[in-house]
Amino acid sequence: MAGIKDVAAAAGLSVATVSRALNNHPSVSPEARARVLAAVEALGYRPNAVARSLRTDQTRTIGLVISDVLNPYFTELARSVEDEARTRGYSVIIGNANERPDLQDHHVRTLLERRIDGLLVSPADGRSPLMLDTAGGGTPMVFVDRWIPGVDVPVVRADGRDAVRDLVAHLHGLGHRRLAIIAGPAATTTGQERVDAFREALHAYGLPLPDEYIGQGDFQADSGRRATERFLDLPRPPEAVFAADNLMALGALDAIRARGLRVPDDIGLAAFDDIPWFVHTDPPITAIAQPTAELARAAVRALVDLIEGRPPQSVTLPATLVVRRSCGEPPAPAPTTSQRRSNL
Ligand code: HPA
Repeated sequence: MAGIKDVAAAAGLSVATVSRALNNHPSVSPEARARVLAAVEALGYRPNAVARSLRTDQTRTIGLVISDVLNPYFTELARSVEDEARTRGYSVIIGNANERPDLQDHHVRTLLERRIDGLLVSPADGRSPLMLDTAGGGTPMVFVDRWIPGVDVPVVRADGRDAVRDLVAHLHGLGHRRLAIIAGPAATTTGQERVDAFREALHAYGLPLPDEYIGQGDFQADSGRRATERFLDLPRPPEAVFAADNLMALGALDAIRARGLRVPDDIGLAAFDDIPWFVHTDPPITAIAQPTAELARAAVRALVDLIEGRPPQSVTLPATLVVRRSCGEPPAPAPTTSQRRSNL
């Protein structure tokens, strides 16, 4: 395989000039750079990433630790993180915590050993000592989606409070009064925030949120199924259920169907996080959508800024309610002027 000396000989330049050209050093003339690139091309030269990282002390690699790779929200986040990182010249190594704090710590440890330049994390559990140490240490780090309160690390996330309020207004407008939530783990900020927002929104309508209408889930489908079974066993089951993530909503849908009940005629269902196939279920599912790709781009931008010595920006973007038919038929829109005329 061709080495850097072969490239230098073919280009008629010194090894030092070739090295500077490959690292985009400004002292290299455009003509010399073109000769280097032509020789690289002709010889099929591939720079050795390990050797380069030893020289520069940079791996141009970032770590992404997500809570559950099977959750379509995180899948989309990971894809967009990778796209954005690539355009900025970084590769991404992904670790899937599968909602387990021990796996999360395993990935953080492994990524640090691989000398990544920075770490994007959506913590599965905010109390991990390793995570707290890493956040306080020298590795550039950004929290995405979930964060750890009190830890001084930039955070990129969506705020779902207004959208949850809009959802409760929608449910109330459809006549639903007994409203239940399948919550995520209280140890995650997203888990806690969504149940708090739901409770506050119900309170604004004078509606209670009794304990039996709070199902404790873990953001995975089985927990949504079990919580919904418990709701349906109550003497007065809820009229609508809000699942705090899309997987728990799918579990809830299974449980409802397994009892021979129908959405929304027997019980309404809404989810946090819009996923592509929510439009294909019967009925299509009302959901709170996050600007996931935009969040991913903002998170990579913040991390690369930190790595490259620029001040990073924390970013909060709004989530929005997408009304479909799973809570009841939304009122028909008012007829347009031309429709009114054609009915005359
Ligand atoms: N967990 C599960 N699904 C999610 C989350 C989360 O923290 N955030 C957005 N979708």
